[in-house]
Amino acid sequence: MFNRKTLLTVLFILLLALAGCGRNDPEPTATPAPAKPTEAAAPAVVGDAAAGEAVYMGTCVACHGPDAKGVAGLGKSLHASDSDFIKGKTDDELVAFIMAGRTPDDPLNTTGVGMPAKGGNPAITEQQLHDVVVYIRTLE
Ligand code: HEC
Repeated sequence: MFNRKTLLTVLFILLLALAGCGRNDPEPTATPAPAKPTEAAAPAVVGDAAAGEAVYMGTCVACHGPDAKGVAGLGKSLHASDSDFIKGKTDDELVAFIMAGRTPDDPLNTTGVGMPAKGGNPAITEQQLHDVVVYIRTLE
């Protein structure tokens, strides 16, 4: 009933099917991707406006006022619309300024009244200064 040619054809098809099965072997597990190089630069310090407002109300309010519009004879307005100094400085420069303060005899002093380093509160951290600068940036 099967001639030789038919048998060979059937065998051939079977072999093809078997070969096909062989290709269903699971893929060799992929080698893990090399770890990404870690960033060398330290992340920039990010400030928090709400934390900065708390710092402001604790330390700066006495001279700069509850609305940060300044108190006559004590401190100036910290609103950007009133201060080219604040508008023209980067956040880092403002942090450095508050860290150092401004003595009455500083050539940059504009009122003859001094601003104490860290607003006179040595406990203030650099992070808190970044926070307070972010808060100052919310004042227009
Ligand atoms: C004891 C009073 C006093 C305290 C407290 C104080 N400041 Fe001042 N601050 C001043 C005075 C006075 C000046 C203006 C100095 C001048 O005449 O140039 C000033 C100026 C500044 C300026 C520059 C404004 C400008 O337009 O030149 C910034 C910014 C500032 N203060 C931020 C702060 C922050 C933030 C705090 C709280 C951490 C603070 N100050 C606490 C008295 C104070």
